[in-house]
Amino acid sequence: MKEQLVTANVLVIHHSRKGTLHALATAAAEGARAAGATVRLRRIDAPGEPPPTKDDLLWADGIVWGSPTFYGNVSAPVKQFIDSTSDLWRARLLADKVVTGMTSSTSLNGGQEATLLGLYRSMYHWGAAVMSADSTMPLWAETGANPYGVSVCANGGDLPSAVRDAAAHTGARITRLAHLVRTGEPAPSAKIVVICQDGRPALRALAAAVASGARETGAAVRLRQITPATTDVPVVTPADVSWADGLAWGMPATTGSLPAMTAGFVETVQDTGADFLGRTVTAFGTTSNAHAGGESTLLAAYTAMHAWDCLIVAPGYTDPVVTAAGGNPYGTLSHDRNGPPLRTVLAAARHQGRRLALLTSRVRGGMLTVTSPRVPARVPAEHAPSRDFSS
Ligand SMILES: Cc1cc2nc3c(=O)[nH]c(=O)nc-3n(C[C@H](O)[C@H](O)[C@H](O)COP(=O)(O)O)c2cc1C
Repeated sequence: MKEQLVTANVLVIHHSRKGTLHALATAAAEGARAAGATVRLRRIDAPGEPPPTKDDLLWADGIVWGSPTFYGNVSAPVKQFIDSTSDLWRARLLADKVVTGMTSSTSLNGGQEATLLGLYRSMYHWGAAVMSADSTMPLWAETGANPYGVSVCANGGDLPSAVRDAAAHTGARITRLAHLVRTGEPAPSAKIVVICQDGRPALRALAAAVASGARETGAAVRLRQITPATTDVPVVTPADVSWADGLAWGMPATTGSLPAMTAGFVETVQDTGADFLGRTVTAFGTTSNAHAGGESTLLAAYTAMHAWDCLIVAPGYTDPVVTAAGGNPYGTLSHDRNGPPLRTVLAAARHQGRRLALLTSRVRGGMLTVTSPRVPARVPAEHAPSRDFSS
């Protein structure tokens, strides 16, 4: 691939009482700078240090959040800052920012994963694109292998070097991804597979609408089903996943988690040696009732896809059609499994497919193939990542 100058505005926002997050944030800022970003490092609730402002948010193409784990969630100062952005959110000025998170906790299993996933719930409302951690990163296992973002069990700024390097790598990675999202030429040939779990009419109708939205952008689209419910739609294979740059998952909400057939297909892909690595991902579904687990199901799909370093592209409130369809920022839901989806819901599904395809076309291939100097420099050569942003 042709070398290109990487330019992106990267904002690193953090809250830190004892210094852990400050050390992580500083490393992420260094990594971003080394990768070509213009960086603003901002600290919440620390007299004498510049706090983040709304102007910083508007300026940023990519945002790295750093929050300590407080009771399994982001800290109140971080949440307070997020909660101050409703005017920008309402004006859709936070859409398409690339975001990721870092955290620390005192206990080994004291809520780091929950904290990052909670942060991302808010980011989906913004319409941000959520960047997973990079499992192809050097010394990945030594960092604890948290697929949702860099995290550490610590209570102060003395970080293990693998974790510090991982934070720097995160800064570099978001720089490249934010650069692609900002400057990437929409490529008409983005490849999208819409995977519909079964043949239920409502789910099928949504899948067709997602597929047609993606096609409107010029993307090549395959509509597939997991169970061979009907003969008109081919059954999905691992080869479809290998072919695709972006995936749209359609599933019924059964228990508020990933339904068994979809989980089974994910495992099949893994067993055949194929993977979902670096894809852009969105999810939609059906429920019987408005609050019967639909949101949880979509979030579970995103949780699963983080394990493959995916870029999560939930619809957010990026178009009025989302609000008209019930205002679900995580993905389109139809509340009648058997009846046809409402027109408003189909419009939201089309928008979701269009948005997935557009963002996919910007980053297409970039998740795996963009080359640039490795960060940080002190990573031993034998740990060179095989498939990531910086390899
Ligand atoms: C209000 C509060 C709640 C906390 N909740 C948790 C928790 O749920 N799990 C945990 O392991 N540590 C918890 N901690 C410890 C912090 O996560 C830890 O001090 C922090 O990660 C250190 O980050 P810092 O050095 O950047 O301040 C909590 C600390 C405070 C003050």
